[in-house]
Amino acid sequence: MKSAYGLKIPEPDPRLTRIGPGTPCGELMRRYWQPVCLSADLTDLPKAVRILGEDLIAFRDGEGRAGLLFFRCSHRGASLEYGRVEARGIRCCYHGWLYDVEGNVLEMPLEPARNPYLKQIHHPCYPVREFAGSVFAYLGPLDKLPEFPVSDIWQTAGGTLKARMGPRVGGPVNCNWLQAEENLMDALHTFWLHTRHSGAQFPSQVNCKPASGGSSSGR
Ligand code: FES
Repeated sequence: MKSAYGLKIPEPDPRLTRIGPGTPCGELMRRYWQPVCLSADLTDLPKAVRILGEDLIAFRDGEGRAGLLFFRCSHRGASLEYGRVEARGIRCCYHGWLYDVEGNVLEMPLEPARNPYLKQIHHPCYPVREFAGSVFAYLGPLDKLPEFPVSDIWQTAGGTLKARMGPRVGGPVNCNWLQAEENLMDALHTFWLHTRHSGAQFPSQVNCKPASGGSSSGR
């Protein structure tokens, strides 16, 4: 018998688990378009999102353009989550600054009409692209902006593409995307956990019955 006494649990590897700005994994993921929310989430209210450790506000202006801005107002730091979505952008609740989807300040209603700051201040924001019911953003350096990837499987004639948020078993996962994907790469667990252990949890297209000879087959 080997006792568990004194067992040393390894610390999570920060190279994989940390995805904030300046971290190795965070920089890697900031070279790709990332899903931010569903298009359906962008209603007449701002949507607070946390992406790669950054707090941001997603919204859609009255012309249908989606935007993703740093969540604190450039004026005095009020959260834009409490702002108002308008035809030309999002308006801060505190003193009414109006931002468009590219971070331009369109109005500063409590400042003099001739106000140089109106042109000088640019609110931090990210490029956004909507595709097939989802909102994607690129959080990396603009000089490395990649083309938005469109896979052929997304364009199959006659198919229906449905966007949805969250993992397969519902609810957010308290880890970053890479950690969640690592589970998917472990394909063999499907045959045990989601079939033999818990009963078949997938549609009939996935036939996990043991093939003749006693081994499991994924076909
Ligand atoms: S804090 Fe947003 S307009 Fe003043």
